Amino acid sequence: MKKRILTGDRTTGKLHLGHFVGSLQNRVKLQDEYDTFILLADIQALTTHFNNPELINSSIYNIAIDNLSVGLDPNKITFVQQSQVPAIAELTVFYSMLVSVNSLRHNPTIKSEAMQYGYDDLTYGFLGYPISQTADITFCNADLVPVGDDQLPHMEQARKIVRRFNDLYGETLKVPKELLSATPRLPGLDGNSKMGKSLGNAIYLSDDAETVTAKVKSALTDMNRISVANRGNPDICMVNKYHKAFNVDEYENICDMCRNAKIGCVACKKTLSIRLNQMLDPFRERRRYFENHQGEVRDLIVCGTSRANEIGAETMSNVKKAMKIII
Ligand code: TRP
Ligand code: SF4
Repeated sequence: MKKRILTGDRTTGKLHLGHFVGSLQNRVKLQDEYDTFILLADIQALTTHFNNPELINSSIYNIAIDNLSVGLDPNKITFVQQSQVPAIAELTVFYSMLVSVNSLRHNPTIKSEAMQYGYDDLTYGFLGYPISQTADITFCNADLVPVGDDQLPHMEQARKIVRRFNDLYGETLKVPKELLSATPRLPGLDGNSKMGKSLGNAIYLSDDAETVTAKVKSALTDMNRISVANRGNPDICMVNKYHKAFNVDEYENICDMCRNAKIGCVACKKTLSIRLNQMLDPFRERRRYFENHQGEVRDLIVCGTSRANEIGAETMSNVKKAMKIII
């Protein structure tokens, strides 16, 4: 039997290049080798967007299409709509007894997201979402979780919960592992350490060629470099970080040329946007297909979720037996 992957995305808008290099690329690479579950996390979306149900609902389709556009094969993967899997909600309640409030409050990702969204008074649901994420991963006994590095604290938390559960109630759940990519974090074009939907510094998988070119044009370079005649420092240039992630073959050469004043920033940016658009073009084509076949996308989500529920019911039966929640 194949090992299993579960990973996913909050349904709060569209996916960007940071998601792609952090996780989506690995999903595509591993879809043959692993039984791959892609979670459309519409409950976790509520933690920050509870006041925008329309956005969450429309994003279920958009995120599914983002995933399909990069080459996930609808015949191989299983989409799971989080809100439609009762096992996830039930496990969240059981696991919540095994987690201290303090460990949640000290979770670095929770802290930085709370700051980013300007919360000083966290909701119970937001603070506790790493517990619900553990339920996401374990309802189907996933072995591997491809994620960006911001998710590492949640993976630690998940392993802690699973170990605690198994110690208390007997070996029932698999201990999951993360899979980090070669680029676990892509900075924003503006120099922000993270590319983010809410930070306004992202290139989206769904951006058209002109938009990508314009965004690259506005990216932060070595600001001390006044003209082509000046030697540049690629190490402090955002454009260069993107060459490293998306233009691997030319990367070293571009660094050399920049340091020796043999390439100007305008040309360097142009090379990058051409390269990005080359990569994005096949994604755009697949996106066009699925946008014109929304019914197919809906069927994929409904069928996938129904398969997930069969697996979830089995897990719940094992979990409840282990916990002696039976009459
Ligand atoms: N927290 C993840 C993110 O913000 C999304 C997510 C929800 C997830 N449930 C998951 C990722 C389970 C991996 C496994 O991107
Ligand atoms: Fe950055 Fe390229 Fe300009 Fe060097 S030449 S500073 S790498 S944009």
